[in-house]
Amino acid sequence: MFRIPESIADLGKKRIEGFPVEGFVYGEGPKVPELMLIGEAPGEFELVDGIPFIGRAGKELMKSLATIGLTREDVYITSTVRSRPYRWGTKKERDGTQIERKYNRPPTQKEILAHAPLLDYELANVKPKLIVTLGNIGLQRLLGKEAKVTELHGQLLERPIQYLNELEDATLNWTAENYKIVPTFHPASIFYRPSHRPSLEADWLEIGRVLKEMK
Ligand code: URA
Repeated sequence: MFRIPESIADLGKKRIEGFPVEGFVYGEGPKVPELMLIGEAPGEFELVDGIPFIGRAGKELMKSLATIGLTREDVYITSTVRSRPYRWGTKKERDGTQIERKYNRPPTQKEILAHAPLLDYELANVKPKLIVTLGNIGLQRLLGKEAKVTELHGQLLERPIQYLNELEDATLNWTAENYKIVPTFHPASIFYRPSHRPSLEADWLEIGRVLKEMK
């Protein structure tokens, strides 16, 4: 099993202080995994046990992995931001009373930059043979804002990726080497867009095919 050192986790926790986020979930998986999966950020359920993708989206993700003969133990699972970004909203109870509660939201660019050193560290040390980004947040963290999951999903890309360069104004710069990436949709996307399901299933079959070819 690979886990980022506490010093890197502490750096991430410090850099994200002051943003409306809570908790911290480590990426986890083998040091030499079949795949590295990059999601968005943990949600409410992930914070409870500190395990990535154990909520409803996680169940979908495990089903997708199973279609290509993989389990959670075979893959390194991480996300673009490690703390749960939240917003306050009101929820109407059955009896009509309104309560204030936290809802998940996508991370902002500032939060993504705050946790960039964590993903950079994992990419440099886990050295995945293949990366699968889940949704636009992870995809754009690696390939820039112009990359769109609706255009690139299911394709094997071999490109430089972005990393945080502290020496150059803490901006994102491009790596010298290429990485192999297959973007696909976030597993939660099919809850609000069920018409994506056939594409998502086809993407996973393609991921399985690419992995076989790499062996
Ligand atoms: N979405 C993510 O990106 N990561 C999780 O752990 C859960 C949902």
